[in-house]
Amino acid sequence: MTTLNWVFNLSLIICVAKLHFISCRASFSPDPPNQQLLDRVLKLPGQNFNVSFAHYAGYVTVNKESGRALFYWFFEADEDPSSKPLVLWLNGGPGCSSIAYGLAEEIGPFHVEKDGKTLYLNPYSWNKVANILFLDSPVGVGFSYSNTSSDSLNNGDKRTATDNLEFLLQWFERFPQYRGSDFYITGESYAGHYVPQLSQAIVRHNSKNDQKIINLKGFMVGNALTDDFHDHLGVFQFLWSVGMISDQTFKQLNVLCDFQSFIHASERCEKALGNADEEIGDIDMYSIFTPPCTANFSRLSHPWKRNRKVGLLRRAYDPCTERHSTVYFNLPEVQNAIHVHSKNSPLKWETCSDAVNENWKDSPRSVLNVYRELLHSGIRIWIFSGDTDAVIPVTSTRYSIDALKLPTVSPWRAWYDDDGQVGGWTQEYEGLTFVTVRGAGHEVPLHKPKQALTLIKSYLSGNSMPKLELVSDL
Ligand SMILES: *[C@@H]1O[C@H](CO)[C@@H](O)[C@H](O)[C@H]1NC(C)=O
Ligand SMILES: *[C@@H]1O[C@H](CO)[C@@H](O)[C@H](O)[C@H]1NC(C)=O
Ligand SMILES: *[C@@H]1O[C@H](CO)[C@@H](O)[C@H](O)[C@H]1NC(C)=O
Repeated sequence: MTTLNWVFNLSLIICVAKLHFISCRASFSPDPPNQQLLDRVLKLPGQNFNVSFAHYAGYVTVNKESGRALFYWFFEADEDPSSKPLVLWLNGGPGCSSIAYGLAEEIGPFHVEKDGKTLYLNPYSWNKVANILFLDSPVGVGFSYSNTSSDSLNNGDKRTATDNLEFLLQWFERFPQYRGSDFYITGESYAGHYVPQLSQAIVRHNSKNDQKIINLKGFMVGNALTDDFHDHLGVFQFLWSVGMISDQTFKQLNVLCDFQSFIHASERCEKALGNADEEIGDIDMYSIFTPPCTANFSRLSHPWKRNRKVGLLRRAYDPCTERHSTVYFNLPEVQNAIHVHSKNSPLKWETCSDAVNENWKDSPRSVLNVYRELLHSGIRIWIFSGDTDAVIPVTSTRYSIDALKLPTVSPWRAWYDDDGQVGGWTQEYEGLTFVTVRGAGHEVPLHKPKQALTLIKSYLSGNSMPKLELVSDL
């Protein structure tokens, strides 16, 4: 990963999906439709453990004329799935795969070992608390494809929302036992566009139809692209305040880039960003205090592994996880196991598609208008932010939320994880809750998996983030 053009290289921006938690009344059909059975994944190559939950992978056709099909992978909750909510998780880019990020290194149950061949169980998988659905969208991303090849070069926000809505309607046909279940949408990064836009499409669809097949209860986004103007101001301020760029470059960025689009910027702004890149040097912009994945990382990482505490399921942070999944998901036996149409899908599986990213069409400068519409629709809206991300930093998100001018319901305070440590900070507004995750980068569940599980639990239960529990006998 190069740090050049880091602001533009949104193909590296990753979006997260969502899950949910409250009991649902859906009755489980004793006789699921045939395609659901065909999509069942029994055993994966490199899986040398058994799991208690069922999972399914396959395609849903979202447009018959063009032949557009989206790839999904669905994991039932590991206990009592029928009583748990359904959470969709979306990664961003645009062009990045939710299988690559959301599933294989963030909230999914299966993560990939360094050898690129073996799987291990993520102890903080969100399927502890919900049924979780990963979707590669739009076409050209991950295993999703179109039989009209130009489609992959003509993606944009509008068609992504339309196709994703169609996907959900079809998916609930295939999985009727989840119809009417409490449904939440989550995502990160460029999914800061996809998630509110899809939520809006569902709310509008539901208002036109009596039958509520998609029982949308809320959405949650993290390190989310929200409003180009405020997000930019926040990026420049963050880079300057943590001491990554000079005063001069800070001033230059504010003058030349403040009104620029995140996706397509002017030449003058690009030049200023180039200066910033030079000054910043070779660090991981998605997580500024952890080492980047360099050729020498395996050597560097060795001592860390040895320091691992016995009995703790926490692993040393590995910045090269994308490489391991690139090996794994290109194995033909893996693709067979998850029902990939290898004849139609791209020849080589990539975590992010540059072609999709570089040919992105419509991308509004702001989705705050979507928030303004949805804030009155009664759904639960949460925004979280890992505070060591320099790509869409906590400062950006604070400026974007501030622009909504919402009254405060519960003031700024620290929240605590069950180990008594400050997990981050939170503030509750009318209709929206903001949560930071201390020490997490762009992909919060990758960097702080335990805190991310606490976050989704609170979100789905409708409770505030936990306060410090007073322990009486110390
Ligand atoms: C998984 O389950 C099978 C069938 O019950 C059993 O034979 C096998 O030993 C189990 N594997 C592990 C790793 O527990
Ligand atoms: C794409 O074309 C192939 C080959 O004709 C066909 O098998 C497949 O069903 C088509 N996919 C879609 C989504 O229409
Ligand atoms: C990697 O390590 C080798 C041997 O120590 C060194 O020669 C090389 O410059 C290092 N490469 C990088 C990118 O740091």
